[in-house]
Amino acid sequence: MRGLLVTGLLASVTSAVMQWIAPWPLKYIFDSVINHKTLPSWLSWLPTSANSLLWVMVGVMTVVALLLALSDYFSTRCVATAGQRVIFAIRAQLFRHIEAQGAGFHQRRRVGDLLARLGGDVQAIQSAVVTALPTLVRNLLTLAGMVVIMFVVDWRFSLLALVLAPILAVASRYYLNKIKSIQRRARQADGEASSVAQEVLTSMTVVQAFGAEGVEAERYEEATGRGLEENRLAIVAQSQFTPLVTLAMTISTVVVLYFGVRSINSGQLSAGDLLVFMAYLRGMFSPIRQLSKLAGVVGRAHAAADRVVEILNTHEEVLQAPDSLRLRSARGTLTLRDVNFHYNECTKVLHGVNLDIPAGTRQALVGLTGSGKSTLLRMVPRFLDPTSGVVALDGINVASVNLADLRRQIAYVPQEPYLFRATVWENILYGREGGDRRTAVKVARRAGLHEVIESFPQGYDTMIGERGLALSGGQRQCVSISRAMARHAPVLLLDEPTVGLDAELESLILAALEIAADGPTTIIVSHQLSGLRWVDQIAVLSDGRILESGSHAELVANRGVYWSLNELQNAHLHDLDVDDSISL
Ligand SMILES: Nc1ncnc2c1ncn2[C@@H]1O[C@H](COP(=O)(O)OP(=O)(O)O)[C@@H](O)[C@H]1O
Ligand SMILES: [Mg+2]
Repeated sequence: MRGLLVTGLLASVTSAVMQWIAPWPLKYIFDSVINHKTLPSWLSWLPTSANSLLWVMVGVMTVVALLLALSDYFSTRCVATAGQRVIFAIRAQLFRHIEAQGAGFHQRRRVGDLLARLGGDVQAIQSAVVTALPTLVRNLLTLAGMVVIMFVVDWRFSLLALVLAPILAVASRYYLNKIKSIQRRARQADGEASSVAQEVLTSMTVVQAFGAEGVEAERYEEATGRGLEENRLAIVAQSQFTPLVTLAMTISTVVVLYFGVRSINSGQLSAGDLLVFMAYLRGMFSPIRQLSKLAGVVGRAHAAADRVVEILNTHEEVLQAPDSLRLRSARGTLTLRDVNFHYNECTKVLHGVNLDIPAGTRQALVGLTGSGKSTLLRMVPRFLDPTSGVVALDGINVASVNLADLRRQIAYVPQEPYLFRATVWENILYGREGGDRRTAVKVARRAGLHEVIESFPQGYDTMIGERGLALSGGQRQCVSISRAMARHAPVLLLDEPTVGLDAELESLILAALEIAADGPTTIIVSHQLSGLRWVDQIAVLSDGRILESGSHAELVANRGVYWSLNELQNAHLHDLDVDDSISL
């Protein structure tokens, strides 16, 4: 990397020096070869015959042209490559940064917009780095040198040439700002379009089932149309800017030419001097013109960079105590003390929850939808932190444990099983170091899910496809539970693992869960009371409060909420039996 930068910079300097030298041979050809003026004393060692001098000057011009070509090649190549590497590093860092953000960030930010930032915005910066950066580095060097040399050659003409510079500077500022703010809106629209696309593409079945293709297409076209309109405005600004620069430069050239020719006629200046001066003027203006053409690319990159930096400056990582405790292997005692939680002032979810779950025991959470069961579960691996109160593992507040260590102690089966685009066995071993297909088979066998998985189209080698679309809900759940078991963690969290399963798979999965829960401290959220006979403790949650707690037998004997829920489910099962017999 350093080598690239040094080479790039050296090549850029060489290129600039060659540009500075380039006009001089022409001057001596004019003055000394054509008009036979004597060479200045520091060049007295050169041949004096016109023919030889011509050869020398033509030779110098050729060498300068060659060196210029070479140095341009190296400077473009090295500066652009170095820039690309920096952009690559930024992109990788952006991804890691997004990964590190907590639940609040990911709930608020739209996936499509984040994708646009990782994709389009980084791309915009990248294309500016590749096209504009080498030009910028080289042209600024050339420009600075040329201005200095021009002032040395003739400061009065230089002043004449630069009268329009302040106007040019103001105009550049104006147009750059304008293009940048247009591009900011264009990038926003791009993020919007990407969000719509992401949302629609991941819910195609619903969109099609409800005939919303037209509406969604309009939403997408609206966002892309806005981007298009902004881009049109940017092009308008750009197409005003470059001609304006050209006009200013031409006026300056004409002014210099007018006074220059008059000075030649009055004998104050040689034709060669004027030639050099005009060449310098052109040499100085050409980088300005080139830079002005890049205004669009640079403005876009600037707006894009702001969007990337905005994310990098967002810090919603799960806070970790600076001296967080390392935790190699937990025993698995879980304690909740006076846990309160609210998402915001309006949605208070948990109220003074207390739970004691000894290591290796099995705790069930039951309660109506929305009573806060999932929320409570999410506090153990710190996807959420209590608003007040403490969640402790082995008596240590989870907030003071090293986050990676904490999560390594936990196998979590979320309500909605997430599978990745990979084979079944790879999905089972997800997040595990080591292990092969055989390991996955062993885990599934132990869970009693081997036969089910074998019955998938290609068994363990079935490619699952994005979001697990190739499998049924129950089949996905089998993989998800095997994955949790493969982790061999001391704490197992199961969020409604039996919801939406058919009767046959349900009994299979309940049996698998019983095996999985044998060993680790387990919290299971479930509606399926009859399948929970093997748990040690049951807590009934209602509106974020624990109403009752105890073993199945105790709660039934209590004749409280649990008892009535249980009665209800038993009656329901009974109804089903009756229905079945009728239909037979
Ligand atoms: N991200 C969130 N932002 C705001 N409110 C939420 C969020 N997630 C859940 N809630 C609210 O918190 C309550 C409890 O939700 P949850 O823990 O998912 O219930 P359960 O799992 O028992 O069905 C619900 O009233 C729900 O509307
Ligand atoms: Mg839930």
